[in-house]
Amino acid sequence: MIRYSISIVLTLLLAPVVGQLAKSNQSAKPESGIQIPLAQNTKPFNQEQTLVELRKQIAEQKEKPAEVVFKNIQWLKGIPAGRVLAIMEIGYSKSLGVDCTHCHVVDQWEKDDKPTKQITREMATMVRLINNEHLKKIKNLKSENPVINCTTCHRGQTKPALNLP
Ligand code: HEC
Ligand code: HEC
Repeated sequence: MIRYSISIVLTLLLAPVVGQLAKSNQSAKPESGIQIPLAQNTKPFNQEQTLVELRKQIAEQKEKPAEVVFKNIQWLKGIPAGRVLAIMEIGYSKSLGVDCTHCHVVDQWEKDDKPTKQITREMATMVRLINNEHLKKIKNLKSENPVINCTTCHRGQTKPALNLP
């Protein structure tokens, strides 16, 4: 009985350390043999659920300009906040074949700590330049108003192909 309680006390003391270990190595187990729930650390990112929650949070403000509703909007200014999430889901994640975590630390959406987020702003600037200047100068194209977007190059990959498969 005494050994049992010591082992529980030890486990509680070690819990934060074990938690850290578990983050870097999911198979790490506390030596006492007592299982510590790791659910919080190992829960896989659920993009659909995340979007449902974010949409709920901004539901009453979804028509307001993005920069009013969100904290660090530099590129999507003037766009209704609700559309920002659609751009994140389809325009960015899907066309690159990634999920939100490629550019964001989950729940710290306003931070610019992943380089891919700033790359995205510069890619968007490039796309606008191609659409507004370069494509307009090319005569005799099929479309009256030819445009490209992220999918044109990325096609579900972070690194656009240079060759056909
Ligand atoms: C390819 C990169 C990329 C991906 C993938 C991406 N985002 Fe973003 N996200 C951005 C960029 C860039 C901005 C800032 C836009 C600006 O400056 O106007 C942003 C801004 C945001 C913001 C506004 C944060 C604030 O308060 O300023 C939210 C919320 C957000 N993203 C959620 C998501 C969600 C949810 C997903 C997944 C469905 C996602 N993003 C996927 C690049 C990305
Ligand atoms: C004209 C072609 C083209 C278009 C259009 C384009 N990209 Fe890119 N993108 C590239 C190239 C080329 C790279 C560099 C890949 C490499 O590292 O070799 C790249 C890289 C990236 C990266 C870095 C990926 C990584 O994980 O290293 C991100 C993020 C990105 N693009 C986002 C976007 C977004 C978002 C759009 C639409 C707004 C877009 N791109 C439109 C060509 C394009």
